Amino acid sequence: MIQKILTLLCLGGLLSLFPLSLEAGVLEENNCSTCHSLSSEDTEKKISGPDLYYAGNKFQPEWLRQFLKVPAVVRPSGFITDPGFLKGSPENLVPHPSFPDEKANAIADKLMELKIYEQTPVVRNALSKGQRAKIKYQFERTYGCISCHQSLNLAGKVRGGISGPSLVNAGNRLQADWIASWLQKPETYLSKSRMPRYKMDSVTQNLFVQFLMTLKKENMK
Ligand code: HEC
Ligand code: HEC
Repeated sequence: MIQKILTLLCLGGLLSLFPLSLEAGVLEENNCSTCHSLSSEDTEKKISGPDLYYAGNKFQPEWLRQFLKVPAVVRPSGFITDPGFLKGSPENLVPHPSFPDEKANAIADKLMELKIYEQTPVVRNALSKGQRAKIKYQFERTYGCISCHQSLNLAGKVRGGISGPSLVNAGNRLQADWIASWLQKPETYLSKSRMPRYKMDSVTQNLFVQFLMTLKKENMK
């Protein structure tokens, strides 16, 4: 009897050594990896969904939770080879999997653990009015970012092209440091991006980061 209890205790002890592999299940259990890469070692090209193995560097946790409860369209023209996903006439609409609160939170927590670098966030000051006007002009005219990305105009209305991911709520969705990293070295994330590679100095780059962080759903009319 005592031996049995001891064996059980040992087993329990062993199991508690592997909580991570057990929990990783929450993503596997829900088939996320059929459409998303969840590890940088997963070299099989996922054609149906964006890579998530750096989700903990890229997203804000609150946005992830919300997305998993009520999925929103991020790429209005569909994802690469899968145009029409989450888009189109109601009979063709394929909704993203969604989850009840508790499960969505657990999945979001797990996604936030997927990181490819550790970084202390860089402190960035708010843009002055003049800086904002200038960088907004560059976003729209000089660099033409708006031809591919939706953003908000002064009245808070959505405008812009749809060939890139929507940036209307970039300030709710993305981490500032990740945007900086994307603008500096997109090849870290995608070997081939459809976004033009810009030569811009680090000051301008930083202004773009600050500008994108001001785009928030609270400002949407
Ligand atoms: C049938 C394929 C499919 C499955 C299964 C799936 N996804 Fe997705 N997911 C997509 C597609 C396609 C998009 C892009 C949607 C868009 O851009 O509008 C997406 C977008 C996302 C995004 C936003 C990523 C970004 O860069 O904007 C997150 C986060 C996400 N999925 C998490 C998950 C998680 C977690 C699971 C498992 C619980 C999962 N997905 C299951 C296809 C899938
Ligand atoms: C010709 C179209 C095009 C232009 C112009 C463009 N982008 Fe992009 N951008 C994309 C595409 C497409 C992606 C998604 C990555 C991919 O599929 O290659 C992207 C991705 C991004 C992302 C990451 C978003 C995410 O959720 O993954 C940011 C941030 C971004 N672009 C900012 C900018 C800024 C700032 C400019 C102007 C300096 C700009 N883009 C100009 C097409 C464009």
